[in-house]
Amino acid sequence: MAASRIAGWAQQVMLLTSLLANTSDFAAVDTAKPMAPTSLTTFQAQVTVAPTADIGANLIANIDDPNATDAQSVCPGYLATQVDFNNCGFTAQLSLLGEACNVYGTDIQDLVLTVEHQAKTGLHVNIQPAHVTSENRSWYILEEGWVPAPQQEGCLDEADLMFSWTNTPSFGFNVTRKSSQEVIFSTDGSKLIYENQFIEFVTSTNDDYNLYGLGEVIHGIRLQPGLTRTIYAADAGDPVDANIYGSHPFYLETRYYDVDPDNSSNETPAKHMSTSHGVYLRNAHAQEVLMHETNVTWRTLGGDIDLYFFSGPTQPEVTSQYLHQIGLPVMQQYWTLGFHQCRWGYENWSMTEEVVDNFGKFEIPLETIWNDIDYMKGYRDFENDPVRFPYDKGKEFSTVCTRMVFTDGNDTGSFMLNPDGTLYIGEVWPGFTVFPDFLKDSTSKWWLKTTSDWYKKIQFDGLWIDMNEVSSFCVGSCGSNNLSQNPVHPAFKLPGEPGAVVYEFPEGFNITNATEAASAGYGSSTQAAAASKTAVSSSATKYLTAKPTPGERDINHPPYVINHVHGDLAVHTTSPNATHHGGIKEYDVHNLYGHMLLQNTYKAMTAIMPGKRPFIIGRSTFVGSGNYSGHWGGDNYSKFAYMFFSIPQALSFSLFGIPMFGVDTCGFSGNADEELCNRWMQLSAFFPFYRNHNVVGALSQEPYVWESVIEATKAAMNIRFQLLPYMYTLFYYAHVRGDTVMRALAWEFPNDPSLANADRQFFLGSAILVTPVLTQGQATVDGVFPGLVEGTDVYYDWYNQSAVNVPSKKNTTIDAPLGHIPVYIRGGNILATQQMRMTTRDARKTDWSMIVAMGKDERANGTLYLDDGVSIEPESTKLVTMSAQTAASKNAERKRVTHLRIDVFVDGDFTDLDLPLGNVTILGVAAPPDGTQVKIDDWNVTSCVEYCAERRMLVISDLKEALNGTAWKKSWSLTL
Ligand code: GLC
Repeated sequence: MAASRIAGWAQQVMLLTSLLANTSDFAAVDTAKPMAPTSLTTFQAQVTVAPTADIGANLIANIDDPNATDAQSVCPGYLATQVDFNNCGFTAQLSLLGEACNVYGTDIQDLVLTVEHQAKTGLHVNIQPAHVTSENRSWYILEEGWVPAPQQEGCLDEADLMFSWTNTPSFGFNVTRKSSQEVIFSTDGSKLIYENQFIEFVTSTNDDYNLYGLGEVIHGIRLQPGLTRTIYAADAGDPVDANIYGSHPFYLETRYYDVDPDNSSNETPAKHMSTSHGVYLRNAHAQEVLMHETNVTWRTLGGDIDLYFFSGPTQPEVTSQYLHQIGLPVMQQYWTLGFHQCRWGYENWSMTEEVVDNFGKFEIPLETIWNDIDYMKGYRDFENDPVRFPYDKGKEFSTVCTRMVFTDGNDTGSFMLNPDGTLYIGEVWPGFTVFPDFLKDSTSKWWLKTTSDWYKKIQFDGLWIDMNEVSSFCVGSCGSNNLSQNPVHPAFKLPGEPGAVVYEFPEGFNITNATEAASAGYGSSTQAAAASKTAVSSSATKYLTAKPTPGERDINHPPYVINHVHGDLAVHTTSPNATHHGGIKEYDVHNLYGHMLLQNTYKAMTAIMPGKRPFIIGRSTFVGSGNYSGHWGGDNYSKFAYMFFSIPQALSFSLFGIPMFGVDTCGFSGNADEELCNRWMQLSAFFPFYRNHNVVGALSQEPYVWESVIEATKAAMNIRFQLLPYMYTLFYYAHVRGDTVMRALAWEFPNDPSLANADRQFFLGSAILVTPVLTQGQATVDGVFPGLVEGTDVYYDWYNQSAVNVPSKKNTTIDAPLGHIPVYIRGGNILATQQMRMTTRDARKTDWSMIVAMGKDERANGTLYLDDGVSIEPESTKLVTMSAQTAASKNAERKRVTHLRIDVFVDGDFTDLDLPLGNVTILGVAAPPDGTQVKIDDWNVTSCVEYCAERRMLVISDLKEALNGTAWKKSWSLTL
């Protein structure tokens, strides 16, 4: 079969992954007659459910409703009594301070407040109904087994954060940073509203606040007043500023202070410093966070207020404190950092192979080829199409498997139910679909069995978990009484089908191909129409929901209508009343669905491939998903704007602890043109997850399609490959310490308020600054070099290895013709690099080099982590710590000379990558060395030393022998 042919190919080209299978969360319902395989390009009339089946109630979001009641103005708030101190905090009773308002549900009379200091840096504040006990679970509180509750040990005395509260005019509390008396969270002066379907608390803010996080959303990085962040997992193709796939109720706040507020001189610029803290609401219900000018209002449709504060006081510390609690990012296999090619529309094995062949032909590195839903039989999980994607050449796969997947799952009660106990049957790609109930332990076993049965037929290396919000194309259990209808096609036209939306000309086509565009009737209206499709649609006639019924929950239509991208909560997903075994309603756990699926897939893969780090890329994520999976940005568009959005989306996922992030490079929906793809293939080369993916029916956009893109891709990949050991080391530190991989400029330069909103550039670790062109038709890009004008930092151009000249103003214009992505090494860093090959496996066999980029203080440091690149618990590892310094002096001839010292400290016994060190390049060396005699550990050795005065660059090569052919076998010191 093709997979083995590809594996055979590996002898020349090496393809680590023969197949990544889309295992969407659904399992196919047993169907009366097996579906005949179809090609996506030939369509006949096919059974579908009615197109109206995915239309829900016509609702107006509360925030858009001019007549909506403001709970703050009509509700009484609470009064705290019965304070009971303990070692680490206290508990208190909160009682309704007047008549119930029942504004969007039924008010809860009595609540319990628990305040708990956790270690030095954490504070936990919990408010839940007094009637909720472990015996009496009439109220859904998020289970710790599914989403761990931060448990840091430690108590009051050393705590960074203080909690204080008041009863005037009603219960409110402050969280204060002890060292500076800065109030970081204050509900003082607002009311707490606590009803069975609506909880609201409000924290006042400083002016012009800087909040980050609260996802998932397509937007710039900084959250500004006027925005609403809705958190409700949705299958929505990347609309701007609306809720999409993932749920991350966490924010980072950074506050800048003028260190010398009395300085009014124009000559000495104001000096600032900043502090950062983090706030996490551990709650999985549908929720909304409203950013107002003077406060942040948090609303959730159920559960409890389970707030965790992290004191920082810097962003790296906040992130590390948060990730240590929610789960540190999973370590990735080395090969996953290679290049991935994907598209919806590789129709069979031969087409897939042709793509692989083309990469070989054009000598573009390719690590992994992905197949989308095209490989499935009737779009069903765990079953390859026997004609287009047979398991083995000539050997047809029996249809029994389908029945087994469903029957096994059904027999073991592994699927979600209707409230009456019958199967909940929605609709996804394969037609009627049931949904695994991952809240039930036995479902894990079924998922493991099913995954491993399939693995026996086709050895995949990773799993792509798509549609796990969970997506369903009809409202409610539309298949329940309609099984005989057996729809084999979704109710909407797939791209490329007759009658489907035709993809427009690529953005900017009228500029880059004016003549052809004019003759083809290209007009600006096409682009306007395309742009409007990316906006969230709004319906003119919307109605309000009914008033709450006392004591009852209306879970399908909660009285408080969140600003959900699809309006009705049941649209394009399972209905809120879909029921888990044991009675839990989807209403209470919807945002967890994707996470539980990722968690179970991780378990299955560790069982199938014992000891190996699972490679999983998921669409819907929750707090802690980074512990299992990476994420891609979903269905973006082939537009320059979406190339920009990929940066803030990635940076948000750095904060959420999912560093293995990338987007559909060159864009998913719509047609990409050469210029866009050229720029995007270069930009994504600096994202951890590097994949080109395309929608069915769109023009091809593999990097070999255009000559200029081949060149641009190779140029950027060449840098990526050199940086892979560094990237992998960043992942190691993310995994063990909670560091970030992609970083916002503000996080590396916390005392520069002008960077608070900077999201058009980013750092990779602390050493690499990337300044991409993000707009069409440009040959330059404006960017900043943080610390350069201020005199604290120095940057070296990756390409010419010279220090960047200090510009006259901070924002500077950089040359960036098509095919060139500006990349800089920040002084103070040492990078251990290897070379580009067609795959990471071969790249890992190349000699080492070292780039020492001297800082302003003539020092530089770096680390390199090495292991087998595969194992969850590697047998051996190696950590190399590198440091360098230069010092200038005058020699006997009174000439200025440089003395250099490099120390390499090797710890660990992993030996596989003890390959030769070819050369060391030192950037930022002000004067030539005094002679050319290099010493290693005080022994004179033979090597070649060259100094380039113009570039202030010193290159020491021919070190192979001097180090006995191994760079990292043992510690060494080099002096010159
Ligand atoms: C979803 C995915 C997309 C995939 C498509 C078909 O839209 O987000 O990546 O190509 O489904 O499987």
